[in-house]
Amino acid sequence: MQSSQPSQACTYLISSVPSDKGWDNPSLILYQGFWFPSWLFNGVLACQKHFQAHNSDIILVTSPKSGTTWLKAILFALLNLAKYSDPNSEQCHPLQTRNPHDLVPYLEFQLYLQQEDPDHATFASPRLLATHLPYSSLPQSVRDSKCKLVYLCRNPKDNFISLWHFTKKMMLKENGDQTPLPECLDKFCQGLSMYGPYWDHVLGYHKMSSEMPEKVLFMKYEEMKEDPCVHVRRLATFVGCPFSEEELRGGTVEGILRMCSFDNLSTLEVNKSGSLWTGAENKSFFRRGEVGDWVNYMSAEMGERIDSVMEEKLHGSGLKF
Ligand code: A3P
Repeated sequence: MQSSQPSQACTYLISSVPSDKGWDNPSLILYQGFWFPSWLFNGVLACQKHFQAHNSDIILVTSPKSGTTWLKAILFALLNLAKYSDPNSEQCHPLQTRNPHDLVPYLEFQLYLQQEDPDHATFASPRLLATHLPYSSLPQSVRDSKCKLVYLCRNPKDNFISLWHFTKKMMLKENGDQTPLPECLDKFCQGLSMYGPYWDHVLGYHKMSSEMPEKVLFMKYEEMKEDPCVHVRRLATFVGCPFSEEELRGGTVEGILRMCSFDNLSTLEVNKSGSLWTGAENKSFFRRGEVGDWVNYMSAEMGERIDSVMEEKLHGSGLKF
């Protein structure tokens, strides 16, 4: 997967910063303290340079494999509630026929990787966008504007295993041999993973959510799983569309959660057989969707390695997994 035409600045930077073969696919380069996939670096630079945030924008931020697909679906459903809630309408909800990644584009990926300065005129307001960029690498206008950031993170052991599976799928597609899990674990614990170090990614947004809670909402996948209704209500209030009493009584929250559930989304035809514009199969975004799945792939000792590095790195932050 490649960008159309890497800019000169991109080619120069790639050749001048540290790089690593990553977990085989994709190769990673170290920029502004984080490991970015080299194939989308052009998109990172272009969006840093050109993206102009609006105060009304809502941007979902995650580390890869933290539950982005789920939250994209929920946010899309929330922000389009009025448009698709007419029971007499024959209009089918877009989530029934399109993958959430098609409906909520990534800044550095769908938007700025393909074009240096894409046209946002077709976007309805508020614009719902997504990114994996660390807080310190966000375009300046995102940090300066009043746009809202929803950050979702996940227990690092499950995040690691989910990323390992995803990488494996991508590698098999390209007929490569995958780096064995213990080697990937070594890299993860050294901070070497897509958009890693994982702890620095999480800490950046955790800190900003404490300093500016009206700008950054910090969420955890496990908490969403445990009490989704509470967290969807919290999310709705944060993005400025709280549920009315009537909606709450009428089961709107439960309806959104049903529509966006793993069981529903993963069994839709579009997500069973469709693909994204990159060629990635939609089904690769739906694996198991469970908390604690890491125990099926790692020994207790391997889990403790992640725990101990996280404990050390998060020390004093008040954040725990
Ligand atoms: P697993 O690999 O542990 O199953 P992302 O969307 O950031 O790429 O994250 C993918 C992870 O979220 C995968 O985790 C995937 O199964 C899970 N996921 C996808 N859709 C989900 C949903 N609707 N509800 C809960 N988890 C979901």
